[in-house]
Amino acid sequence: MQSFEIRKKYLEYFKSQGHAVILGSSLIPQNDSSTLFTSSGMQPLVPFLLGEKHLLGKRLTDSQKSFRSEDIEEVGDSRHTTFFEMLGNWSLGDYFKKEQLAWISSFVFDELKFDPSRIYVTVFEGEEKIGVLRDKESASIWEGIFKGKGIKADHIFYYPAEKNWWSRSGSPEKMPVGEIGGPDSEIFYDLGADLKKHENSPFSSQSCHINCDCGRYIEIGNSVFIEYKRTSSGFEKLDQRNVDFGGGLERLTMVSEGLDNIFETDLFVNILKTIENLSLQKYNDFRKAFEVIADHLKAATFIVAEGVTPSNLGQGYVVRRLIRRAIRFGRLLGIKKQDWARLIAANVASDYENVYPEVSKKLDFIQSELSKEEEKFNLTLEKGLKEFEKIAVSDISGKDAFNLYSTYGFPIEMTEELAKELSLKVDIEGFNKELSLHQDLSRTASAGMFKGGLADSSLETTKLHTAAHLMLAGLRKVLGDSVCQKGSNITSERLRFDFSHNEKMTAEQIKAVEDFVNDAISADLPVEMQEMSFEEAKKNDAVGVFEYGEMVKVYIIPGISKEICGGPHAKRTGLLGKFKIQKEESSSAGVRRIKAILK
Ligand code: ALA
Repeated sequence: MQSFEIRKKYLEYFKSQGHAVILGSSLIPQNDSSTLFTSSGMQPLVPFLLGEKHLLGKRLTDSQKSFRSEDIEEVGDSRHTTFFEMLGNWSLGDYFKKEQLAWISSFVFDELKFDPSRIYVTVFEGEEKIGVLRDKESASIWEGIFKGKGIKADHIFYYPAEKNWWSRSGSPEKMPVGEIGGPDSEIFYDLGADLKKHENSPFSSQSCHINCDCGRYIEIGNSVFIEYKRTSSGFEKLDQRNVDFGGGLERLTMVSEGLDNIFETDLFVNILKTIENLSLQKYNDFRKAFEVIADHLKAATFIVAEGVTPSNLGQGYVVRRLIRRAIRFGRLLGIKKQDWARLIAANVASDYENVYPEVSKKLDFIQSELSKEEEKFNLTLEKGLKEFEKIAVSDISGKDAFNLYSTYGFPIEMTEELAKELSLKVDIEGFNKELSLHQDLSRTASAGMFKGGLADSSLETTKLHTAAHLMLAGLRKVLGDSVCQKGSNITSERLRFDFSHNEKMTAEQIKAVEDFVNDAISADLPVEMQEMSFEEAKKNDAVGVFEYGEMVKVYIIPGISKEICGGPHAKRTGLLGKFKIQKEESSSAGVRRIKAILK
């Protein structure tokens, strides 16, 4: 069965179990500032997992385009990609473990007809620290299912939270307050003991077990039982028990076609053929380079299709990095042709024509962005590589890394990768210092222009800017954590503020936000500024926009708000006066606009 059929079969199967088939969301999160990209099917559904009513009911299913930049380094092992499709089904406080495990196993055994003797599952072994017990219930449900299929109970394994707990941020201790998650049960397919361990696997020397990464057992699906929420002191149960299932379409297709490599499925073969034609090399001789190019340019095609273009900021920086890394690997393969990335985009558009026609509709735009980026990078790549060779006689200093970045367009990760191949280190801290120095200089140069949405830095404007921080905190408190800022414009008379939210605010909600802000003003709190790395700011739950590699300023109003922001701000909240929302209206789809003043 090819990918098209599997996607269809999955959605039909869950439809027959009472699920509404919903459209997957954009790769760019619409109401969630916690990640740059949609990285799993559950992400767009968080408000509903938290209890909000979904118009289509409590049972949903879809196929979600997903992107995980954290897997970039793993591409090349024949089973990882950054872009993938996740088949998903959800119970929003409806069915739970018994139904989920029965349905998903019946899909795997009866619909996909996978060989039961090759299926293994894992369940959560429990963790005293967080008060969540061993998941005997799932284990016993699996035992019953396996008995019916003639599979022995020794195909069921318990693992600790590190492996068998899922949330957007990983294991329990990594979850920020308010994050949801729970124990999970993963399904693995045994590709066979005779499978040659992949040369690129960093784990090939470790002893093999079901959940190891050596390549023999591959995870094909994960049922997460989302019933917990992180609090400041531990974990509490949500009001509803949810199921969040995700299974990678690429991997399910691979197993269904009797392969042991996702790049040999119909989701990649055309792209690989194009790379073979371009490089006059064979995929089997240079697997890693082929896989990196195929994955990265497919991902870039899908991201640019959503309007994100290469830049040094946020999502744009990721696209830039993907394209440049692909070009460099193309060079390693000996591709001589110029302007070739566009050919891969054309493959992607036609491969996904039936499922994601928007890619082929936007193909001209995508190709022109890829061409521009390729040309920009090619202009400096050769010289940059020569420069790199010159400096790569010892560990690379921050200054040299910054020079490669600013003069030759080398993403810092690329310099790190090149250095790693020679067992050299790169001074990342030094690089970040150079970068922020450079940004400060260019800021000084542009002083007087609109910055951070402020018209000027007069006292009145500054006060309204601080009021905007208090108001965002209030909006998140009243409307939920999914609210994030979408833009602002502040003058000495008023603040205008756009934020993500789907409905008109009620009069009560507006009043509650006003009260929240005015209480914070009455409390006369200090407004403090701290400089920290972006990573640290995120760890501290600061809201705000990600700017690559920079030391960021975080403005903190104790107990109320932490925001990455360039300032300036009032010294204390007590200086602000009385806060009033004058207008709340729609700005664009999913975005509301508030006009507010200080009296
Ligand atoms: N959200 C779960 C995952 O990504 C299904 O594995």
